[in-house]
Amino acid sequence: MSIDYKAEIERLKKELDVTVVAHFYQRDEVFEMADITGDSLELARKCQADSNPWVVFCGVGFMGQSVKVIAPHKRVLMPKVADCAMARMIDASYFDDSVDYMVERGIAKENILPITYINSDASVKAKVGEMGGLVCTSSNAFKIIEKGLESGKKILFVPDRCLGQNFANSMGLKSCVIGEGECDPKEADIICFNGFCSVHQLFTLDDIAFYRERYPDIKIAVHPECDPKIVEAADFSGSTSQLIKYVNDLDPEQKVAIGTEYNLVNRMRERNTYVLSSTKPECPTMNETTLEDLYLTLKSIEDGEPINEIIVDPHTVKYANLALERMLAIK
Ligand code: 13P
Ligand code: SF4
Repeated sequence: MSIDYKAEIERLKKELDVTVVAHFYQRDEVFEMADITGDSLELARKCQADSNPWVVFCGVGFMGQSVKVIAPHKRVLMPKVADCAMARMIDASYFDDSVDYMVERGIAKENILPITYINSDASVKAKVGEMGGLVCTSSNAFKIIEKGLESGKKILFVPDRCLGQNFANSMGLKSCVIGEGECDPKEADIICFNGFCSVHQLFTLDDIAFYRERYPDIKIAVHPECDPKIVEAADFSGSTSQLIKYVNDLDPEQKVAIGTEYNLVNRMRERNTYVLSSTKPECPTMNETTLEDLYLTLKSIEDGEPINEIIVDPHTVKYANLALERMLAIK
């Protein structure tokens, strides 16, 4: 007999002290089962404030890990421990190499303030925390960089070169990317690691031109993980929650083409929205989690044999926590 996953998930949620969390990029059927949804910052804040001892996180690895780091007493399980491809572009040794790059070019280590995008492994966040740095997300990067600049130090921004450059541009700061042309840390305010999101690289100026030609009044709204030339050509750029708010605040007749992950954009179809790409911009790892995975994870708690638990070693928790808490303290 086949299992009615939705009914079983509802039953398990009622019977267990568990909170189901989902990012906007999750498949619709998984997203609908969540108690908590939001962008990366909202998910971190809401999970920290939540009182249930169990968290089942439908998202990518760094998201579940971040909950474990800011609330180590919680048991965090992930139906699929799927990694964000951008987060995998940097590890602790690449981080050290980036610091060395700056030191070799005349910036003393104590004059470097590292900021890591939340899309990074806890080991990278720990390195950042140990150096007095902090985490940012796409919704608070402006504030966090502003705060970072108060230190008078050079900012090393990892791993997303696009986010680093986009916020540098919006703040009138000079940025460069390690490994891309001449990147002299003495000449730039923000020195970026060369990571990127392959999903958000799909959006092109041709896509924007296509929509603007077809619908001259259309608005273009994109995520700041897009290339700087796309963000510059767009009408709005923001985190997933900020994109949803932007679209919901528009006149319902206003057409808007959105440059971010497909599942989120598709959910807003009734709002006169278009996917800003001829290629379906799906995040493969976000899409890995199925309703069956969610059911099996909840069932494993009921059976007393939890699966896919997120474990972070105490040293990493200690320093990654510093970097995350420094961010959460900034309202
Ligand atoms: P948000 O914090 O905007 O939800 O972004 C997460 C992400 O991974 C975007 O690709
Ligand atoms: Fe990572 Fe890009 Fe997927 Fe976001 S869309 S989780 S940055 S790979």
